[in-house]
Amino acid sequence: MSVLGIDVGGSGIKAAPVNLVEGRLTTERHKLLTPQPATPEAIVASVVALAGEFDSHGSVGVAVPAVVKHGVAHTAANIDAAWIGCDIGRLLHEALGRPVAVLNDADAAGIAEMRFGAGRGQRGTVVMLTLGTGIGTAVFVDGILVPNTEFGHMDIRGKEAEHRASAQRRKDDNLSWEKWATNVSEVLVALERLLWPDLYIIGGGVSRKHEKFLPLLECRTPVVTAELGNDAGIVGAALATTEGHTPAGAR
Ligand code: BGC
Repeated sequence: MSVLGIDVGGSGIKAAPVNLVEGRLTTERHKLLTPQPATPEAIVASVVALAGEFDSHGSVGVAVPAVVKHGVAHTAANIDAAWIGCDIGRLLHEALGRPVAVLNDADAAGIAEMRFGAGRGQRGTVVMLTLGTGIGTAVFVDGILVPNTEFGHMDIRGKEAEHRASAQRRKDDNLSWEKWATNVSEVLVALERLLWPDLYIIGGGVSRKHEKFLPLLECRTPVVTAELGNDAGIVGAALATTEGHTPAGAR
């Protein structure tokens, strides 16, 4: 069975039908640039346009870069401030005319990695970090998600973690891989002081270039690369439409 998964990011919106048994896209994904300003209405319009490009029916899973509780977005770090308090679940449901599961993008990516990727069968505390426009985090305890963690906004020496170590920061500041890896390590060390994880999974588009920075990371927790790469958010969004994968209170 395939279900449409859509991943709304700070720079692009990606969509594809997902085979939920195998955790892979059934066709090539389609992408639109994230509209600017990234208001809920503009994003809903892009999501509807993307959904119309596929011959799919039934539920749609949508991952968004915000805290989502009961369908309502509560933060807006890299999207328009109008998201705060917006019932994005209801807007999407009305616009698509289909049942919708909406959840945080890093949680979606984490769900996919735990089910089909680098976190498969991992017990204990697993922290997935998505390094992209911002830094998203997803925390799992014995495979169960603790939804809506926002460690990308943790304070590191007077600055938010995502303002030091996101992939965007590396590009914007033209940081060397060495310098950027030092910043990422600082985030990993700060987080392990609080959570003592058993495993870190690093995702986001930059994880494709893992050989450039993974060997440079310094922390006590083992670090692995996400296996689903940039598709993790799409796969996790689709999975969230099914029983047992929806974070408590997400829809
Ligand atoms: C947002 C998170 C999101 C992450 C990755 C952060 O700025 O606060 O909710 O998961 O970016 O998109």
